[in-house]
Amino acid sequence: MANSKYEYVKGFEQNDSLLPQTWIVIQVDGRGFTRFSQAHAFKKPNDMQALFLMNDCAKAVLEDISDVVFCYGVSDEYSFVLRRTCTLYQRHASKLLSLVVSLFSASYAMKWTQFFPETELQYAATFDGRAVCYPSESILRDYLSWRQVDCHINNQYNTCFWKLVESGMSTTEAQDTLKGTTADVKNNLLFEKFNINYNNLPQIFRKGSIVYRKQVEEVGKKENGEVIKRLRMRIVVEHEDIIRDGFWTAHPYILSVARSKQQQAHPPSPAAKPQLSLSLR
Ligand code: GTP
Ligand code: MG
Repeated sequence: MANSKYEYVKGFEQNDSLLPQTWIVIQVDGRGFTRFSQAHAFKKPNDMQALFLMNDCAKAVLEDISDVVFCYGVSDEYSFVLRRTCTLYQRHASKLLSLVVSLFSASYAMKWTQFFPETELQYAATFDGRAVCYPSESILRDYLSWRQVDCHINNQYNTCFWKLVESGMSTTEAQDTLKGTTADVKNNLLFEKFNINYNNLPQIFRKGSIVYRKQVEEVGKKENGEVIKRLRMRIVVEHEDIIRDGFWTAHPYILSVARSKQQQAHPPSPAAKPQLSLSLR
């Protein structure tokens, strides 16, 4: 069909393709969650149900978009790592970003009553988003470490702050008490004044949450009684340290392009590989 005279308007579209062969991180962040958390009486400083809801929304994103290989969340934010080889929407930033943000926001509303059966949703929670490309695995890991360090710093501060307020201080007095204090001083304050060992607080508060497809070994039996082992990919939510190498060396397949592509394209059938097979679930 011949082009219409209006077709020229396409020339105004900007090319926003993200750099090829880089890790794409899409970060979503709750808009105005200071108010949202008050309007819905979230527990201070951490509301477990609110965190579970965020984690479930992240799971929905991971389940829906196969290029998402890893998610990290804390407070009202979540970061989604898309594999380097991702070609979804020809890597157009606006398309990828709007997909993740809308999927996350819609999931939040849909799942609300599951996590807050007693609390009516007053208004829609909305999330902003940004997409950033990281050129190497090491920089990607530094990004994730940065978010987890932030989680720790904020959680330690907020735990002290709200304990001081609970004990009768005004918010200004609590702020002044904590101003310029080191991590050690905050830990001591929690221990000596409130008998709280920071390291015993729930890991989800101190480390945030990770969501990924984990390789798990399943042991089964054939009809003839022969024991077979299978590797399966299962979506999990955990609260591990992702700053040290340990987690990444234990799960090298998460960021490994070759392995993850293979898992997607050719899940070997148990018949073809009776002793060890990979499949997505
Ligand atoms: P914008 O992101 O700029 O729109 O502002 P914001 O109000 O969302 O603040 P920001 O993203 O910087 O920080 C998130 C805020 O959400 C925190 O400061 C808290 O006030 C609130 N919040 C997040 N998680 C919890 C929670 O588990 N409990 C409570 N009480 N508040 C939370
Ligand atoms: Mg926010």
